[in-house]
Amino acid sequence: MTNYLIVNGPNLNLLGTRDTATYGTQTLADINARIEARAKELGVEVLFFQANGEGAIIDFVQDNTAAAAGIIINPGAYGHYSYSIHDALKDTGLPIAEVHLSNVYARDSWRSELVVAPIARGVISGFGWRGYIAALELLVALDRESG
Ligand code: DQA
Repeated sequence: MTNYLIVNGPNLNLLGTRDTATYGTQTLADINARIEARAKELGVEVLFFQANGEGAIIDFVQDNTAAAAGIIINPGAYGHYSYSIHDALKDTGLPIAEVHLSNVYARDSWRSELVVAPIARGVISGFGWRGYIAALELLVALDRESG
């Protein structure tokens, strides 16, 4: 079955208690359950991963590239400065959807720079947990469209 990697970066393990005014009250487990439910409806499989370290994220991506049809990633703050995650994702050759719960363009100016985004098919920012669902729907639709 078609498999998508759902990757979350640093501090996203604290969703539900972390700055709820910005990130909402859903925990990462709540969000993943919603993604899982939508994936079932779409007839695809999802593999979840969260890590606070850059290396662990890169290892996970490398280890699971062969079996994946696409990657949905919220790189957290790494999205603003991690060229290694940029490179790792680019090297997969897979379609990438970058998700941010918050609207990064409406916050601190340093959050407006996204260094992973240039290798992504697209970025969804500001729609809370729904961004992950939209990203999955979009990657699945593009995959099916391409044949
Ligand atoms: C975030 C936005 C980043 O700027 C921040 O460092 C995060 C979360 C988001 O989902 O809105 O950790 O990626």
